[in-house]
Amino acid sequence: MNKHYYITTPIYYINDVPHIGHAYTTIAADVMARYKRMCGYDVFFLTGTDEHGQKVEKAAEQQGIHPKEHADTMVHRFTDLWKVLNISNDGFIRTTEERHRKVVQYIFQKVYESGDIYLGEYEDWYCVPCETYFTEMQLVEGKCPDCLRKPEKLKEESFFFRLSKYTERLLGLLKEHKDFVMPDIRYNEVASFVKGGLRDLSVSRTSFNWGIPVPMKTHHIIYVWFDALANYLTGIGFLDNVDMFKTFWPCDAHLIGKDILRFHAVYWPGFLMSLEIEPPKHIFAHGWWTIEGQKMSKSLGNVIDPNEIVKAYGVDEFRFFLFREVPFGMDGDFSKNAIIHRINGDLANDFGNLTSRSVAMIGKFLNGKIERPEKKGGMDEYVEENVKRLVEEYQKEMEIFSYHKALHNVFEIISILNKYIDTEAPWRLSKEGDVRIKTVLYNIWNSLRIVAMLLYPFMPQKSEAIWHALGIGKPIDKVLFDNEKVFYFMDDISYIDKIKPVFPRIEE
Ligand code: MSP
Repeated sequence: MNKHYYITTPIYYINDVPHIGHAYTTIAADVMARYKRMCGYDVFFLTGTDEHGQKVEKAAEQQGIHPKEHADTMVHRFTDLWKVLNISNDGFIRTTEERHRKVVQYIFQKVYESGDIYLGEYEDWYCVPCETYFTEMQLVEGKCPDCLRKPEKLKEESFFFRLSKYTERLLGLLKEHKDFVMPDIRYNEVASFVKGGLRDLSVSRTSFNWGIPVPMKTHHIIYVWFDALANYLTGIGFLDNVDMFKTFWPCDAHLIGKDILRFHAVYWPGFLMSLEIEPPKHIFAHGWWTIEGQKMSKSLGNVIDPNEIVKAYGVDEFRFFLFREVPFGMDGDFSKNAIIHRINGDLANDFGNLTSRSVAMIGKFLNGKIERPEKKGGMDEYVEENVKRLVEEYQKEMEIFSYHKALHNVFEIISILNKYIDTEAPWRLSKEGDVRIKTVLYNIWNSLRIVAMLLYPFMPQKSEAIWHALGIGKPIDKVLFDNEKVFYFMDDISYIDKIKPVFPRIEE
């Protein structure tokens, strides 16, 4: 039986123009999906769009069109961007799809029948843009704690979910699975929130129409978060492909930003417990990006379009930068200087030069054909041992979403290789007719092959190009990560000659 892996991104609000924050979560999920495929997993990677709610209704109204029509236009901004960013998602879900309506109404009904949803009355401060109710206590100087806009006091008949009933079970889940929420700082946040006791949650609205109706009282619209979270079930065939659902559920990882942690780590497992469906295995919440030191906002006009970044610096360079620059999980700052610095330093100088000079040396000293290593000496053993060790470290780090450390290990290999070349000086071995040149150039070739493989989840196109330059015809994602084979000899290598600079320098 194949190993399976299911990973998701949040579904993005259809009203927004995609920015670096959306790109970040999606690329992060893409990195893991590609890594897991490389490790031999059968992966399902789901992303999509969140298309219901008052904000969408209002935006469509302003344009005099139906909300679905509005969503149909907007959705392309996301799907087009995912193509540009080379996102390898297996599924795409829109909450306005019929398959999703069925799932949401089905689970709402089921929870209602179990007695966990009841009718009551709700009154509180409601922030329209955030589609969230806040208590008086949660407001910051009378304003929404998330967007700092003025909320409205709303009172309406509403269905409630008995979240309070699940406080103990949620605490149990957190206690037993310390990695249910990652990283630790987010785990602690969730644990202390749940310990504080949970209130029942309002799960229907009567103040607008654009959404999925409550099956037993159709003038009620199902709360947008109840609707949105269920996408993780719909996307893998909860009602229409039960075999697939059984194969991929429980989800291995929901990747999210830290702002939507509570919905995922408290409400979502609460709903699932009521439905007697296993909770997801991990929820990983990442930090937020600022732009040139400032919070990104429409009013400041500093929202960055990822398409523009890609045009200026290249897609793989952008993908790489996001995870090399900032530990995944922490907040980070995006600046022109920082990305140029990374491209010129890590990529053009360290990795790019290593690649071009290695390929050129194989061309020049071995007539473009790597040969079986013959005699060992010098730094050979050191290189072999360290590459093996660093590959293992890399894998350990990748497993826990520690992308930053994983990349650090790869760059340690690169720096060892640069030192190796300087010390062993293949040009000298060649001049002296020493057979060790075969060993040294094989080790360099093989370590580069490995480096390209390790970087593949982050920079798929560049890695393929480097493999190609190394004379390897196969695409990387078909290659299983096989630790036994870290150092082995490949026979079917084609001619290796020269390579155009893979990472051109950027003028500062
Ligand atoms: N529709 C909900 C999610 C429902 S999932 C069942 C939503 N959508 S969103 O479009 O507003 O945000 C999606 C993601 O973008 C979140 O994970 C959020 O953290 C992320 N980001 C938005 N701005 C960001 C930054 N400035 N930096 C990093 N990520 C940020 O929430």
